[in-house]
Amino acid sequence: MKHQALTILAPALLAGLVSARNPSDLKHKHKDAIFTPKDMLALPRPGPVGVSPSGKLGLSTITRHSFETRKTVSSLYLINLNETSRSEPQLLVESIPEAFSFSDPIWLSDHRIAYINRTGADIGLWYRGISDNAHGEHGSAVTPRHLLDFPAGSSPSALKYLATAGKDSSAGGVLAFSAHVWKGYDIEETGRLEKEYENRGDGAMMWDETYIREWDTWRNPDKVHQVFLTSLNLHNLDNHQIDKLKKPVFFSPFKASGIWSLMQPFETTDYDLAYSGGRLHLAVQIKDKYLNYAFNSRRQVYLTSLAVEKSSDIEPTLSDAHLGSVKPDVQMVTSGDQGDVSYITFSPNGTTLAWLQREENGAESDRNRVITYSLDTQTLKVWTETWDRSPSSIVWSKDGNSLYLIAEEAGASLPYHLTHPGHLPTPLLFKGTSSSITPLDASGSRLLLGISTLTHPTENYILAFSAPKGGDGDKIPVSKVTQVTSWSHDGLSQTSLSEGEKFWFKGAHDHDVMGWLIPPRGFKKGSHKKWPLAFLIHGGPEGAWEDSWSTRWNPNIFAQQGYFVVAINPTGSTGYGQEFVEGIYENWGGSPYIDLVAGLQYILETHPEIDEERLAALGASYGGYMINWLQGHNDHTNFKAFVCHDGLFETHNMYYSTEQVYFPQKAPYEKWSPNNFVQEWNTPALIIHGGKDYRVPDTQGISAFTALQSRGIPSRFLYFKDENHWVLDPQNSLRWHHEVFRWLDEWVGSGHKEGLEKPSVRFQF
Ligand SMILES: *[C@@H]1O[C@H](CO)[C@@H](O)[C@H](O)[C@H]1NC(C)=O
Ligand SMILES: *[C@@H]1O[C@H](CO)[C@@H](O)[C@H](O)[C@H]1NC(C)=O
Ligand SMILES: *[C@@H]1O[C@H](CO)[C@@H](O)[C@H](O)[C@H]1NC(C)=O
Repeated sequence: MKHQALTILAPALLAGLVSARNPSDLKHKHKDAIFTPKDMLALPRPGPVGVSPSGKLGLSTITRHSFETRKTVSSLYLINLNETSRSEPQLLVESIPEAFSFSDPIWLSDHRIAYINRTGADIGLWYRGISDNAHGEHGSAVTPRHLLDFPAGSSPSALKYLATAGKDSSAGGVLAFSAHVWKGYDIEETGRLEKEYENRGDGAMMWDETYIREWDTWRNPDKVHQVFLTSLNLHNLDNHQIDKLKKPVFFSPFKASGIWSLMQPFETTDYDLAYSGGRLHLAVQIKDKYLNYAFNSRRQVYLTSLAVEKSSDIEPTLSDAHLGSVKPDVQMVTSGDQGDVSYITFSPNGTTLAWLQREENGAESDRNRVITYSLDTQTLKVWTETWDRSPSSIVWSKDGNSLYLIAEEAGASLPYHLTHPGHLPTPLLFKGTSSSITPLDASGSRLLLGISTLTHPTENYILAFSAPKGGDGDKIPVSKVTQVTSWSHDGLSQTSLSEGEKFWFKGAHDHDVMGWLIPPRGFKKGSHKKWPLAFLIHGGPEGAWEDSWSTRWNPNIFAQQGYFVVAINPTGSTGYGQEFVEGIYENWGGSPYIDLVAGLQYILETHPEIDEERLAALGASYGGYMINWLQGHNDHTNFKAFVCHDGLFETHNMYYSTEQVYFPQKAPYEKWSPNNFVQEWNTPALIIHGGKDYRVPDTQGISAFTALQSRGIPSRFLYFKDENHWVLDPQNSLRWHHEVFRWLDEWVGSGHKEGLEKPSVRFQF
């Protein structure tokens, strides 16, 4: 297949498009003002857009942190998705820190939305009306109204709503959600059991099976995540005849079969529901119930269905099932010997289920294939057996004839169209990193994309192209891209961030390896000024530096502080084919190290403006491992300072203490453990670790610090007791940036201190 080059119209910012302002951002800035860590952390953070059934409107949750009040506020906006008739986003709901929060906004119809409303201990489903055009409001129905209460303590999340098929659709449908409940008990008993547990009198927890912690949480062995259904009868809602549904029945079709998940989070992409053939189908993907979660990555897809012809049938069916007079059959539809499964999604008419699947159990970065299962013929089909890329998300076209995917490709994540099993997917756009893709109309010619780049956080764009004729996705014609949101426009308007440059060089085994170069703010080609280098190493290790935005390890933030930034995608990185990914297996300090050293040498040879005496390397997770590895092998690289965040120091203990034990099974061991080379360590290092990092436990960071101290090497330990494998709290992140730049300045001196604010607290602890 030929990948035809698409002509893309530059996504021009439309005049009059108003961005979401944050009052604290509106200080007056001169042109080309420095873009500081605080500026970055104060930018609005948009969540994914939920598109209305008609495809005309979107819902987006924007989160903003204020460093003045130290509070984070979430706001739900209505977005007009018509690129020719524009209007400002309309604010629908706003959280009040410590009093009210909302989550999980969903569309009940084109004129009604619902969301979870949390006020104190009360968790309810609330709804409000929406006008057609996003300009005005829709009568009295815009007042939020109470629909139902969720059982106390049940922590509902991952809401989905399925309107009844056909002309009954406005009358109601099924609400599905995931809840964290006590194994074997009804959801209504959750609150009582929580109280008993809290008042148990001692603080002990006990397990008979490993998998005791997950990510940042100690797992309660008696609790599970389960999908529940309840019916929503919406008949009389708008004329306010009922204020609240009476006593909803909550039913978990999989409970009787012991199909539940020990693992959080349970997200909307982990299950799906649909109608077809007069039945309501529910599918979940969860880890194999017969295998230990910590040692295995295998997941299975389970399917069940309930007989329901019309919406009026749903309620009796659910209550019969709830009372035990109906026991739904549960079918495992995966072949059984695969690895992990994700993104399960029913086709629009409910006859086919699609998902992403890795073939090998325990291989976290095996290539994802697109799989479909036909409910009619009960057969599985592999759509992308020959495609050497690994999609990270899938969505059906509205006509159910094709699929759209997102997959990494050489330093980007691109949207693709997959029209037939066995065809190679066609890329639809060659710009930035797409994080979401949603078809807007039935013809398949308009898609809503969430895209970020190195110069801006995610904004939404409409990609329009003529519908492919004859269904051959290879022949997609010229497309046009229009930007429809502009949340960070104000916060970025006076800044000059770099788009970055890609460079290629020969790495281990003569492979072509790619990296990004981001020049420092104020850099002028041809000037004799020398600059320090920040050499960034990504984690994963199967991941990549992409043309994308992040509030953690944002390359432009380092460039703004006066550093040349080099970010290489060495062996093990994703987006360059499966052979390159697997080149890191049992080779952690081998090929990736050779690639990094070769890339550094290439850049130093081609960029004399980089001061070879002022090189610093920084990395997190696997990147932190590589920092500790470089410590023992720095004679080839001459780094003058290191920053190691949540990095591995000793692989043996890592294996026995991480929560995902299958993870390191493909990794080193022994031979590639950084602690074997402590006698070679002599470079100043800042070690950072999160206290709730159960992926790479904090003893790894503590050990590296002890090694440095025992050898009298200048070193510092920065600890965030409440952070997990990532630093997420904006105040903590600000402190993180302050300490990282203070350390770099001390050892490789950028000479730039402008815009770096002192931490608000001057105490060490
Ligand atoms: C967008 O709005 C214009 C003007 O109101 C209308 O003619 C057009 O059909 C709309 N487009 C879509 C895709 O709804
Ligand atoms: C949330 O629920 C509270 C009552 O618990 C109610 O007073 C408030 O209006 C609701 N807010 C929204 C936006 O639904
Ligand atoms: C359902 O949609 C598929 C395409 O996804 C189509 O092939 C099939 O014929 C449709 N089935 C029915 C019963 O409409």
